[in-house]
Parts: sequence; C-alpha cells; structure tokens
Amino acid sequence: MRPAGEGRLRIVAGEAGELPGIPPASVHLIVTSPPYPMVALWDEMFAAAGAHDYASMHALLTNAWRAARSALVPGGLLVVNIGDALRSVDGEFRLWPNHSAVVDSCESLGFRSLPYVLWKKPTNKPNAFLGSGFLPPNAYVTLDCEFLLIFRNGKLRAFPPHDRAREASRFAKAERDRWFSQVWTDIRGARQATGDRRSAAFPPAIPERLIRMFSCVGETVLDPFAGTGTTLWEAVRLGRNAIGVENDPRRLEHLRAVAERAGYPDF
Ligand SMILES: C[S@@+](CC[C@H](N)C(=O)[O-])C[C@H]1O[C@@H](n2cnc3c(N)ncnc32)[C@H](O)[C@@H]1O
Repeated sequence: MRPAGEGRLRIVAGEAGELPGIPPASVHLIVTSPPYPMVALWDEMFAAAGAHDYASMHALLTNAWRAARSALVPGGLLVVNIGDALRSVDGEFRLWPNHSAVVDSCESLGFRSLPYVLWKKPTNKPNAFLGSGFLPPNAYVTLDCEFLLIFRNGKLRAFPPHDRAREASRFAKAERDRWFSQVWTDIRGARQATGDRRSAAFPPAIPERLIRMFSCVGETVLDPFAGTGTTLWEAVRLGRNAIGVENDPRRLEHLRAVAERAGYPDF
C-alpha cells in the first residue's frame, strides 16, 4: 500500500526537446541531468541525433531548455545538473565548460540565472589526482564537482498570504542553512541500485533537496531526461506530482516497471 500523501506519476515516451502532451505553463519545477557533451559515455547518443561536436551537442540540449521554458509556470525554476568535461581533441587536452554553455543557452532563451550550487562527488579514491604529478606548473585541478545551475522563468512566483501548501512545505533552519549554501560536500549514496553502471543516475539526495527547496507539496515536478527516474521517485515520495520524459525504450521499460510495482496512479 502506498503511503498517504504521495504524489501522482506520469511517464512520457518522447523527446526532451518536444515534451509531448505537457501543456504550456503547467510545471512548477524541473530537476534534470542531461547527457553531458564531450563525455565519451554519451558520444553514441549524440551521434545518433546528428551531433558530433561540442557546439552541435549543446544545440541539441538547447532545444530541451527551450521546451522546458514553455512548460514552466511563470516564476517556475529549472535546475540543470551538469559537469564539465576533460578531453583531448586533435591532440590538445582541454576543459569543455558545459556549465557555461548551458548558462549561455538558458540566458539567451530568456531564463534568469540564480546563484548555482557546486556539489562534490563522493569518491572511494580520495587520494587519486588526475593532475600530472608534483612539479609546477603543468598539473591541473581534479574535476570532482558538478554544477546545479538554477534558472528562473521570469519574475518571482506570487503566493497569497499563509498559502497552505507553501506552509506545509516549510523547511527547518538547519536545513535552510545547509541547503542554501553554495558548496555541498555532504552528498552521499552515489548511484541508485539499478545494476546498470552506465545509468549516470545522480544520488537521490540531489533531487530530494532541490524539490524541497524549490517546490511546494501538490505541485508538479518534471524531469525531461528521466533516466532511471531518481527525480520522479523523490518527487512522488515528497507529495509532488511527477512527470518523466525519456526517449530510450529500455529506460522507459524500467521506469514503467518500477511505477507499476509501486502502484503509482497516473495523471
Ligand atoms: C544523465 S541521464 C539521466 C539520469 C537521471 N538523472 C537518473 O538519476 O537516472 C540522461 C537520460 O536522458 C535520456 N535522453 C537522452 N537524450 C534524450 C532526449 N532527447 N529526450 C529524452 N531523453 C533523452 C537518456 O536516455 C538518459 O536516460
């Protein structure tokens, strides 16, 4: 039996750049992690969509940010989890600053950037440095954080005084102090137990925190790159309605199987 107060769930087969069947201005919060440009794990997927270089990969992602803007209510928030990439191209080793490309795209689409969060990825190899040894100046900093880029769709949302759903979503002072700081070093639990090491799932603590920070009970949370559904399961557990969009049939099958086992009602 599902606990009282859980939200409803909708799983949509389709493209993040199209968001089929999701009406304009119907989503309060988007928490998502897209495929990362210039990270080898995603090369095949970008290539299948006709994107072979950094610019065209980000052009594809920009379609998703455009659709996200239209799905959000005025004042709704988009949170994009993304990491930069390190990769040699034509013999030159470079940092590919995915976070700045996403900021540029979203700003040009009319989103407004809010202060972002850097979260430190848990590692079981704390002494492993990717840099090149102990002699200056040719070592480089280990890439061990990811960005949570936060964008608002227009002006602040307005609420009537003492709005009940908002009051019911209040967080404690200790939570506020920890969550609204710019560097998160306490994210544990790494990956979901999907048995698939290539799932690129983020730790459930990421969407859990963001959903409590940026949405109210009863509102709608969307993940247009749903993957294993980490955002969806957290949203439903926290009393929000969740919509997941995914274009990979294997992932969709997994999402539907989990949803069916849990008995989440559709909406
Ligand atoms: C980084 S993973 C998301 C992981 C997710 N946050 C989780 O915790 O499981 C990106 C997902 O986006 C899906 N995807 C890639 N391109 C897509 C597109 N154009 N439309 C919808 N889904 C897409 C991939 O199949 C993959 O499951």
